[in-house]
Amino acid sequence: MVFEQVATGGCQSYLIGCDQTCVAALIDPELSQIDHYLALATRDGVRIRYLIDTHTHADHFSATRELARRLDVPVVMHRASPAPFVDMRIGDGEMVVLGKLRLQALHTPGHTADSMCLQVEDRVFTGDTLLIGGTGRTDLPSGDPEALYDSLFNRLLHLDPSLQVYPAHDYKGRSHSTIADEIATNPRLQKRDRAEFVEMMRSLNLTMPTHITEALRTNMSGGKTVASLLAEATSTVPFMSLAELRSRVEAAEDDLIVLDVRERDAYEGGHIPGARLLPRGQLELRVNQDLPDPTRRILACCELGYISTLAAATLRSMGFLRAVALDGGMKAWREAGYPLKTGKEP
Ligand SMILES: [Fe+2]
Repeated sequence: MVFEQVATGGCQSYLIGCDQTCVAALIDPELSQIDHYLALATRDGVRIRYLIDTHTHADHFSATRELARRLDVPVVMHRASPAPFVDMRIGDGEMVVLGKLRLQALHTPGHTADSMCLQVEDRVFTGDTLLIGGTGRTDLPSGDPEALYDSLFNRLLHLDPSLQVYPAHDYKGRSHSTIADEIATNPRLQKRDRAEFVEMMRSLNLTMPTHITEALRTNMSGGKTVASLLAEATSTVPFMSLAELRSRVEAAEDDLIVLDVRERDAYEGGHIPGARLLPRGQLELRVNQDLPDPTRRILACCELGYISTLAAATLRSMGFLRAVALDGGMKAWREAGYPLKTGKEP
């Protein structure tokens, strides 16, 4: 068996594969680790054939949709998943065949309605249903403490006690435990009475995960994160450093158009000498009139360097093949003590 565990903060993801047939599945992959997973699969000599989410994640950005696009392999989730991009919906008691391995799905609602665990040989991937020394919370969308009680006490904890438990989260750097260890020591599993367990889950009063709205939006729709949009734009444009631009501004090079894409009041409060104003929100509307020559060298700048990257990528896609973005923004320019001009456009 090929097996890799990849931690991203408190999130755990897994590459599991059959070494005889060289095929593998990724379980709960995270968006920022895509290159890491692909490198591990190459190093281990397996081809990724399935992308599996154990449930709809509210606390990290799933990589299943993006990897499905790149690898042309199916996204697998429980059939209760709300995500429209799931290619293979599976139900309780069904299996995903992975070479000689069998990934057995167990529907375990509670943390979310679409939560499932996957048993493979000597181990079980428990998602957020069962954590090491904890359980998934039940106060996020589609969570249900009564269902979690049934999933744990009437399903998961009846599995072979020697099975190794690999959860979707661990915040203390632990890799795994066993069903027997959890039954014996997990504090949340000591409330074996249904009403007591439900009352405990309802009174946990946890803070909301960071990025919850963006995680649910992107994981449920397959849409892009803001960071992905920026990374895509960054990969399509060259940049110029602040110091390089300053020397060109001071030399009054007139082959370079500095395009300030902030709003008018920010521009008038202090801009790079000679910069023109074209707010990002008006770029497409005014580009033909303001930038009639697509062969000109154009440098986009903004306050922090993000919006200017998007603007430069838009300009390139429109045929301005010499559009570049400033590596940094006006904030860094001011802090460096570089020359500024105030007032209206000349
Ligand atoms: Fe979760």
